[in-house]
Amino acid sequence: MLRSSMPFAKALAAALLALSLPVVAQDSTALRTSALAATCASCHGTAGRAVNGASVPGLAGLPASYVVEQMKAFKVGTRPATVMHQLAKGYSDAQIDQIAAYFAVQKE
Ligand code: HEC
Repeated sequence: MLRSSMPFAKALAAALLALSLPVVAQDSTALRTSALAATCASCHGTAGRAVNGASVPGLAGLPASYVVEQMKAFKVGTRPATVMHQLAKGYSDAQIDQIAAYFAVQKE
């Protein structure tokens, strides 16, 4: 009995795995993106929402293209900065795209 149900169990397991893989992949991308964006929180506020009176600007709701442009300008030094020119160098262009897309959809 056990023996004859094994092929079915294997097929079922394979089907479930195939169904769940894309979901898992999406979740881990979202997790990686929010983890990357969290590295900005200590200065720019949780989810990019600056606290009242903070001297560092918030990032929530800024257009992604603007954030990408600024990060690249910090990286190459065309936008002078106190800390961002150093920090920006630690992120790849792909990571910056991800981070910028994340902040663009956060509510201010
Ligand atoms: C150690 C504190 C600190 C961290 C961490 C930090 N920033 Fe900044 N950020 C600043 C400061 C300070 C400025 C103002 C420019 C300067 O003096 O460097 C700034 C400016 C910016 C600006 C320009 C905002 C504008 O209105 O033009 C962007 C975009 C930005 N940061 C993105 C990020 C991103 C994305 C991260 C995370 C990957 C990050 N920052 C992490 C301190 C920080």
